[in-house]
Amino acid sequence: MADLTQLFEPIQIGSMTVPNRIVETTYSINSGRADGLPDEPFIEHHVQRARGGAGWIGGETWVLPTPLPAGRGDEILPGTGAVRFAVYQLPDFVPRVRAFTDAVHEHGAVCVMQLTHLQSLMCPSAVSLPLSSDYIPHVLDEDEIEAMLNAYADAATAFAAAGADAVEVHCAHEALPEWFLSPLSNRRTDRWGGSQENRIRFVVEAVARIRASAPADLNVGLRINADQCRDGGYDLDEMCSMAAAVCSAVRVDYLSVDVGSTWGRPSYIAPMHYGDAPFADHAAAIKQAVGGVPVLYAGRVNDPVIAASILGSGKADLVGMTRAMIADPEMPRKAREGRISEVRKCIGCNTCIGKVVHAEVKTPLCAVNPAVGSEALWAKTGRASEAKKVVVIGGGPAGIEAARVAAERGHSVTLLEREPAIGGMIRLAARTPKREAFGFYPDYAKQELHRLGVDVRTRVEADLDTVLALGPDAVVTATGARPRRSAAVSDDDSRVFDFEEVLRGGCSLGAHVIVVSEDDHMITPSVADFIASMGIRVQILHKWLSIGEQIERYTRGIVFYRLYKSGVVFHPSTLFTGFRDGVVYGANSHTGDPIEIAEVDSVVLSLGMESDDVLARSLKGKVTELYNVGSSFAPRFMAEATQHGANVGRLI
Ligand SMILES: Cc1cc2nc3c(=O)[nH]c(=O)nc-3n(C[C@H](O)[C@H](O)[C@H](O)COP(=O)(O)O)c2cc1C
Ligand code: SF4
Repeated sequence: MADLTQLFEPIQIGSMTVPNRIVETTYSINSGRADGLPDEPFIEHHVQRARGGAGWIGGETWVLPTPLPAGRGDEILPGTGAVRFAVYQLPDFVPRVRAFTDAVHEHGAVCVMQLTHLQSLMCPSAVSLPLSSDYIPHVLDEDEIEAMLNAYADAATAFAAAGADAVEVHCAHEALPEWFLSPLSNRRTDRWGGSQENRIRFVVEAVARIRASAPADLNVGLRINADQCRDGGYDLDEMCSMAAAVCSAVRVDYLSVDVGSTWGRPSYIAPMHYGDAPFADHAAAIKQAVGGVPVLYAGRVNDPVIAASILGSGKADLVGMTRAMIADPEMPRKAREGRISEVRKCIGCNTCIGKVVHAEVKTPLCAVNPAVGSEALWAKTGRASEAKKVVVIGGGPAGIEAARVAAERGHSVTLLEREPAIGGMIRLAARTPKREAFGFYPDYAKQELHRLGVDVRTRVEADLDTVLALGPDAVVTATGARPRRSAAVSDDDSRVFDFEEVLRGGCSLGAHVIVVSEDDHMITPSVADFIASMGIRVQILHKWLSIGEQIERYTRGIVFYRLYKSGVVFHPSTLFTGFRDGVVYGANSHTGDPIEIAEVDSVVLSLGMESDDVLARSLKGKVTELYNVGSSFAPRFMAEATQHGANVGRLI
């Protein structure tokens, strides 16, 4: 058993005593704030993490107002991240935020508010920032810089009045201060640019103005990107020197350190491909540079043992475990009580951030925690009024969650799975390169279902008779989906495989493979990566211009880096029309112009899924309560499957 003592030691940060080292760094997941101010869903979402034992709650970011240049109308704001008015200017601000800070304090945690100038419209210099914003922004003049800086002071004063323990000046993730710090984006020749002393001035001034206007016991921290990792930007050495210079110019109570950008290589919301705590050494370097200023490291720490080792090796004083607690808000308490095997670890799929950044409906979602986004509802879900005999068929995410929640609510549950182990497609996904973290979920589920007394029977091919023989009061079918085939190939063509067969192993693919793609998410890239990692030449025909269109921007970078580096060739806007005598035939999906690729050994189909609902249909009318969940209802992603399963577990 690892020694986690240090993880649960308090630490003094300025005037605040943080009860332990586990931090919810700020993450804007849209848990609430329908009118901009904390509401019940917002409070319940974040306070759940304090209740679960986090020592520090960062909540969601607070965007500061952007002063518009004279004569410009509001219409220039949409799409730039800028806002005209900030919530701290609303009349109800203090009591509504106070309700949040009081609720956090009730559980012993501290409440830190992040202040963000998030806009790409008004920047230090007339420089486009490829991959972030490709236009030339409006250059801030002295008056506008003044207004930007004063907003920090006004916001900090308002947050102090509302009970915040600290404010954090957001200097990372392409927020405005990062643009001032960076020699890439700051080419000014006045006192705000040029030398390092001038480039840090915006940050120093922001802190100084907060100190001048907010109460003396309000703590002030900075969130910094330790290394821009881009040509012309600052590197770790320069950030060490800038951080030291800022800390000696003004009192900074802590530094929160991560590495990466919003466009994803590297990504500060590191997906599973990165492995554990990939940038903890950067935090260590900053810590050394700034002497006694406490340093918080954040970035892919999903396990209390890893967090404790970062503290133990002196790389940081606090550890961000943000997605770790989206996935399992109870993680700190479980760790403290020695119940580490019960922790539902974040798998690093980045569904949570994808939903925030890209989805039209920005509902919070987590692949492994179905309660995310509806914490208030789940808090009211109790035991079932009548204990029933429940049979679940299928041990993928939907079946697992239906079984788990039903068992937690007091039902007697039997789960039938045709494979030797539960996990469904998730186990196959875990076989693809750098995505083994998917395996955390079935490992967690196995022990959790055991703990809850679910009777899990593997290697059982369930049919109508098997199910009815168990005499269930309620049946949940979670039989998943199978890969869709193509009308352009015959089912008995021995050189054409679907991606599932390939991932199961044992297919003899030859030296040159064409992946036929009509999938917009991770199946195509991860299957291509899997095949390429065996030293096989891979080309992808994809139906539209862009592969992986549904992969969020924080993950895209590493995914495509891997494919390009392993020599995968892309044929965008190409529909597959056939495969004969080693030749793949296709047609441009816009013009119909034909293409041919010769000397192909095999074709692998990645065409999305088709529901397997045969059992569900055969059970209709034969049992009193019947639910068809997850991909056997309609093909879906893991997060939707876990939510569907869990919600049915709640209904039974
Ligand atoms: C959904 C989501 C939203 C985020 N929003 C913010 C934000 O508004 N401000 C910020 O500084 N970091 C934000 N982050 C980054 C997190 O604070 C954290 O640095 C990141 O998730 C990596 O840490 P982890 O591996 O412990 O999750 C966000 C992360 C997620 C997952
Ligand atoms: S959605 Fe994925 S990355 Fe985000 S917290 Fe859940 S498991 Fe982790």
